[in-house]
Amino acid sequence: MAEKKQAVTMDKIVNLCKNRGFVFPGSEIYGGFANTWDFGPVGVELKNNVKRAWWKKFVQETTDTFGVDAAILMNPRVWEASGHVASFGDPKMDCKNCKQRFRADTLIEAHSKGEVAAEAMTDAEMESYIEEHDVKCPHCGVRNWTPIRKFNPMFVTSRGTLEEGSDKVYLRPETCQGEYVNFLNVQRTARAKVPFAIAQIGKSFRNEITPGNFLFRTVEFEQMELQKFCREDEAMSIYEEFKKKALEFVESLGLKSENLRFHDHDKLAHYAKAACDIQYNFPMGWQELNGVHHRGVWDLSRHQEYSGKTMLYIDPFTNEKFVPNVIEYSIGADRLMLALLCAAYDEEILDAEKNDVRTVLHFHPAIAPYKACVLPLQKNLSEKADEVYRKLAKKFAVTYDVTGSIGKRYRRQDEIGTPYCITVDFDTLNDDTVTVRDRDTMQQIRLKIAELCSYIEKSLEF
Ligand code: GAP
Repeated sequence: MAEKKQAVTMDKIVNLCKNRGFVFPGSEIYGGFANTWDFGPVGVELKNNVKRAWWKKFVQETTDTFGVDAAILMNPRVWEASGHVASFGDPKMDCKNCKQRFRADTLIEAHSKGEVAAEAMTDAEMESYIEEHDVKCPHCGVRNWTPIRKFNPMFVTSRGTLEEGSDKVYLRPETCQGEYVNFLNVQRTARAKVPFAIAQIGKSFRNEITPGNFLFRTVEFEQMELQKFCREDEAMSIYEEFKKKALEFVESLGLKSENLRFHDHDKLAHYAKAACDIQYNFPMGWQELNGVHHRGVWDLSRHQEYSGKTMLYIDPFTNEKFVPNVIEYSIGADRLMLALLCAAYDEEILDAEKNDVRTVLHFHPAIAPYKACVLPLQKNLSEKADEVYRKLAKKFAVTYDVTGSIGKRYRRQDEIGTPYCITVDFDTLNDDTVTVRDRDTMQQIRLKIAELCSYIEKSLEF
């Protein structure tokens, strides 16, 4: 078993992502565009796999959850009903020295390495903490802050077809409103009975003040959100069930339990009955990975009030009419992708004397960008290798590499987390067998080409 070298840092993850085609800085040739990222050929596969895994677990494998894909641009009244226009505000502070702007809560969380829950603090408490603990500006190193002010991070755009003055439109800051406004559409067309859930994966936009930590907090990101509509008397047990399911899901994809913990919110929104994050121990400390929220009847009642349309559910057995409670489970696809990259990253010392270190991503095969790489031992075996590639590509995302020594090609695949390298050699031409090298153990076995698909398929279960 290879020895481990050293702990993962965010710099190593960012560099690997850039050099191996996972993630590039947004608009890079123009000097970049702060806090935006573009997903490259390997990154888009990984992110799609993360989203597919979530959808499979929370929609496909259930009988009571239905998907939607709602519009990003919604009637602006939606955001009045949701409370975002009036009160969606981050506590911002400006550094008077270098003029950079930060969120007070994230400054405190970063300073305390995630040990202090700043979301439970009032603005005055945050200001005192920052003074007492001498929290300096991360940009210039000076402590010279303005008082905290609220900042609404919704991006505003305009819609030309509306009359002047009434053309303000928001880019959605969360996807869940598309689930609430479609509550009765889905209930009716799916003939769903409470409790049932609506799930969605899609882009959200927030004009975040504190950029940073790579994919952790970005201005444009994807959320995977699910709203379970239920009776009041079953809401608390559904809330507990989702805390458990959310944890099991991220563990099943490869996050280790010692790097995960629940963080119950001390300070709740006035309508909420309970809220809990799962935090992950990222290289920069413990930070929120996802949230589970018991939102009571707030969302549907507000949409009923602001739209003037009923949000009442009619029980088909008792004819009772009521506005259901909502349990929400929400996780960022980009943030989960970052956690999975950090968890998978390893530097293994294979031979200390020769300073032979291999960088490897131990992804669960289900989320690995490519399930296998096909390698012809020599160029003149390309025709047979091509045949193997085409057979596998009908079932999985696979890649092909013909350049460099086999050893170098293995290492390239280790760095992007490909679980299997399949080498086509001269014996393949005679007996239709190939060598399959396992990424984690580096062991090699000989398999019939006809057995490859089922061999790979077995490893994809989670
Ligand atoms: N609908 C509830 C909601 O949006 P949230 O805690 O603001 O709740 C849910 O966001 C999840 O979305 C977070 O736990 C995180 O995984 C992800 N997320 C939120 N803001 C993000 C950002 N700026 N960049 C990346 N992911 C973000």
